[in-house]
Amino acid sequence: MFIGVSGKNIISFGSGQPDLSPPNRVFRAMFRYRNFKYGLIQGNLNLRKALAKQYPKSTADNFVITNGASEAIDLTLRALSKVNNKKKNRVLLPRPYYYSYPYLIKFAGMEPVYTNLVEGRIDFDDFKKKVKNCKAVIINSPSNPTGRVESMETLKKIEKITNDLGIYVLSDEVYKDLIYIRENYLIKGPRVITVNSFSKTYNMCGLRIGYLWSLDENLVNRVIETKTHTSMNTNILGQEMAYEATKTPEKFIKKQVKIWRERRDFIYKGLSDMGLDLWKPEGAFYVLPKIKNPRAFVWNMFKKYKVITYLGEWFGANDRVRFSYALDINKIKEGLKRVKKYLKIKGEI
Ligand SMILES: Cc1ncc(COP(=O)(O)O)c(C=O)c1O
Repeated sequence: MFIGVSGKNIISFGSGQPDLSPPNRVFRAMFRYRNFKYGLIQGNLNLRKALAKQYPKSTADNFVITNGASEAIDLTLRALSKVNNKKKNRVLLPRPYYYSYPYLIKFAGMEPVYTNLVEGRIDFDDFKKKVKNCKAVIINSPSNPTGRVESMETLKKIEKITNDLGIYVLSDEVYKDLIYIRENYLIKGPRVITVNSFSKTYNMCGLRIGYLWSLDENLVNRVIETKTHTSMNTNILGQEMAYEATKTPEKFIKKQVKIWRERRDFIYKGLSDMGLDLWKPEGAFYVLPKIKNPRAFVWNMFKKYKVITYLGEWFGANDRVRFSYALDINKIKEGLKRVKKYLKIKGEI
C-alpha cells in the first residue's frame, strides 16, 4: 500500500530499502557493458564464480542468480512443492514473518504452519514438535520484521533436526551483512537452500539481483527449469553491476553497519523512552513495537502526521507496528517527534 510513496514532508518508516549509496565501482559496469542478448538462465558465470568463493564446498553450479531474493524464494518453494518424499506439502514458518512468505508458500500450492516467536526468537520446543510434519522450514535471521538474530545454538539445533528428519531449510539471509551482535552463521546441510540478495548489503534494491545457493543439485536444476519458462535470465546489466559489487572491500560493509547501528540505537532509545514495549534489534533495520491500536496508529500517522509505518498485522504481528529505520537520522528524529505527539494526544503514553 505504501511501497514507493514519498512526498514533501513525508517521513517514511515504511519501506525496507536502504537510503545509502551503492559502492561506486558498480557504476563502472553501466558504461562498460555492451551485450544485451539473452543470458544464461542460471545466471552470469563470472558472478556465480565470484559467489562460489564466499560459500563452502561450492562451484558456480550451486547458484542461480534471480530477480532479487524474492524470485529465489518463489522458485525454491515451487521446486520444493514438487519434491516427492512422502512428506506433506507443509512449510513451517516462524511468526512474525516477512510478509511475502505465506503468499509464496500458498502460490506454490503448499500450506504454511506457524510457530510463534517468543521474545522475537524461535521457541525450539514448539519448532521441534511442528517441524516433524513439514517438508520445509523458512528461517530468516536477521529477521524482517523483528530485527532479531537467532542464537548460534538454535541455528545449529535447527541444522541438526532438519538434517536428521530429511527436511528442507530455506534460509533467507538477505540481512546477513547487517548484524550488530556477531558474525552471521551460515546454516549448512544437503537440503539447505540459502537465499541472498544485493538489495540490502549493497543498496541495489531496484536492480533486482538476488540468488540462491544449494548443494542439492536436483533442486537447483528444478529451479532453473521453472525459471526457463517464467522470467528467463535475470537482468544482465544488473548482474554485471552485482559482479562489480562482489569486489567491494569489506570496509564498505563495516562502514554501513556503523551507520545502521547508530540509527538502531537512536530509534530504539526514542521508542523505549516513550514507554513502548519493543525488542532491541540485533540485525537488519526494523523495529516492531507494540502499539495499543495499530490500525488507527498507522492510518492517523499517515493521514494527519505524514509518517508512514507498516501494520504489524501484515507480518503476522497483530498488536505491533513495524518501523524501518532505513532513513537519515534527522528524519528519524522528526518522525519520532510526530509519533510522540500522536501517542500523547491519544493518551497511549
Ligand atoms: C526477509 C526478506 N526477504 C526477501 C526480501 C526481498 O529482497 P529482494 O529485494 O532481494 O527481492 C526482503 C525485502 O525486504 C526481505 O526483507
